[in-house]
Amino acid sequence: MKRRTHTCGQLRKSDVGQTVHLQGWVHRRRDLGGLLFVDLRDRYGKTQLVVHPEESPDLAKHAHELHAEWVIEIDGIVMARPDGMINKDMPTGEIEVKITELTVLNRCLPLPFQLDEAAKATEELRLKFRYLDLRRPEMQETLLLRHKIANVVREHFTGEGFAEIETPFMIKSTPEGARDYIVPSRVFPGQFYALPQSPQIYKQILMIAGMDRYFQIVRCFRDEDLRSDRQPEFTQVDVEISFADQDMVFATAERLFVKILRAGWGVDITTPFPRLKYKDVMETYGSDKPDLRFGLPFSNLTDHFRQTEFRIISSAIESGGAVIGLCVEGQAGLSRKEISDLEELAKSSGLMGILPLKLTAEGFAGSLVGKVADDDLRKAAAAVKAKPGDLILMAFGKKSEILKGLGVFRRKLADRFHLFDPNSHENPSLFWVVDFPLFERDEETGEVSPSHHPFTGWNREDDHLLDTEPWNVRSTAYDLVMNGSELISGSIRIHDPEQQAKVFQMLNIAPEIAELRFGFLLEALRYGAPPMGGLAIGFDRTIMALTGGSIRDVIAFPKTNLAQSLMDGCPSQVDPQLLKDLYITVNPPK
Ligand code: AMO
Repeated sequence: MKRRTHTCGQLRKSDVGQTVHLQGWVHRRRDLGGLLFVDLRDRYGKTQLVVHPEESPDLAKHAHELHAEWVIEIDGIVMARPDGMINKDMPTGEIEVKITELTVLNRCLPLPFQLDEAAKATEELRLKFRYLDLRRPEMQETLLLRHKIANVVREHFTGEGFAEIETPFMIKSTPEGARDYIVPSRVFPGQFYALPQSPQIYKQILMIAGMDRYFQIVRCFRDEDLRSDRQPEFTQVDVEISFADQDMVFATAERLFVKILRAGWGVDITTPFPRLKYKDVMETYGSDKPDLRFGLPFSNLTDHFRQTEFRIISSAIESGGAVIGLCVEGQAGLSRKEISDLEELAKSSGLMGILPLKLTAEGFAGSLVGKVADDDLRKAAAAVKAKPGDLILMAFGKKSEILKGLGVFRRKLADRFHLFDPNSHENPSLFWVVDFPLFERDEETGEVSPSHHPFTGWNREDDHLLDTEPWNVRSTAYDLVMNGSELISGSIRIHDPEQQAKVFQMLNIAPEIAELRFGFLLEALRYGAPPMGGLAIGFDRTIMALTGGSIRDVIAFPKTNLAQSLMDGCPSQVDPQLLKDLYITVNPPK
């Protein structure tokens, strides 16, 4: 086959007069009476081709048969576009190629959706015909950005003395809080490998092996409930450093994010990033990953309402509840209908309701006036720093529940009142969350689990709390949050086998079970393990943060929320003989 002389994004005015050979997809064909235009597209751009039916009637007849997404090649001559026809928005917009010869290389079936109108197609259709969806320039740009950022990552870590080392995909389970995907062994019937939820244990073992600085762009597998920012297989930039302290780990990640935002958006961000305590962000924003591109901080108003005659509130407080409020600047003028819409918004955020209080130049207004003493209202208004013209919104009830609901509500309020520009690349909000609790307890089952993972160390100042108030022990885990998304998680690890055994014990993992599951790690820790720490960057989420798209838009071949791949139709049944060889029988639920 004849090779192309140029891509579809390459030709410029300086090429006028050249004879060229182009190959690509028919993006669009337009018959404008006297002239016939074809936009030819490839990954690099689009070039306008033109046929003059009067000069070349046979060619025009041939070109007239072309349809969208046919693959063609042409010979032609680069011409300057007439003055009125120049398209400044297109890099090739000053030229067009007059076709002298046209060959159809392949046809295309009628399209399930028009590429230009993919937004109107269902996502199922786009996923089923992924190869068509990926032909769209926006999708290709995202994949190319992903590749660019992967290069930034590799260059960064290589430059800082890290080595990229691959770890196995068929492993003994590494717990990260999700269910494992498992792979049956044929050689050992009834025994299984797990796909890694992360390379956590392996990277720690690489530190014990003396590799000092490791990173890997690596796939992780987790069978968990999927959400808009979760995929069953996703990519981490996994990092581990020997003899590390928190500052060292943060600094290398910060230097990387400076480069990522420069490469992705062309913006410069300042370091070091702020460090916020878990307890503070939870109490102030009701989330461990608040979006801080806007304000709306909470204030705990419980003390101001303890004595109130408004019984619904005071009795909620007496039974251990709290009142928490926030101030929306300049919105005291909302109508009754608008306030009632906010109440709906509160309910859809998981709150039982919201108490609105307007502070106007004339004083307070709203249903609380008369029910709650003015003095209490004044103190509450002062606590949320309200000025005349502002709207105060309060919730009361079980503290953990209202904090959570308000956290969701706060984010919705920001959209409702346009408190920030979601498309702006200026002033992204990046900060670390530190001092997470070491353990979490499920309120219903009482089950104790590690807040991060069981290899995370704790703040030694809290040693005395381990046996008495384990909930208050602060771990050495940290997260990086960008624009309301958790992009990174990591910790300084336990490197002492006794401390590791202690954590297993606190997690009610019996010594024999710990030995069975993690014996190899406990043993490795006894052979001279260095202090170590690290982190993992959610790579898909990082690209999402840059593009603002969904997680499925930043992965070439993503899965649905039911962990299916619609293009190839998996999961699917396998050859019964395969199951026989593995001694597996399937008992699907009735
Ligand atoms: P963690 O489990 O918090 O930590 O994962 C690290 C980061 O990976 C991203 N992430 C995901 N992205 C897409 N889909 C998912 N299902 C998903 N789950 C997690 C998030 C998260 O912050 N081994 C530890 C890291 C360490 O301690 O070094 C770990 O995996 O952005």
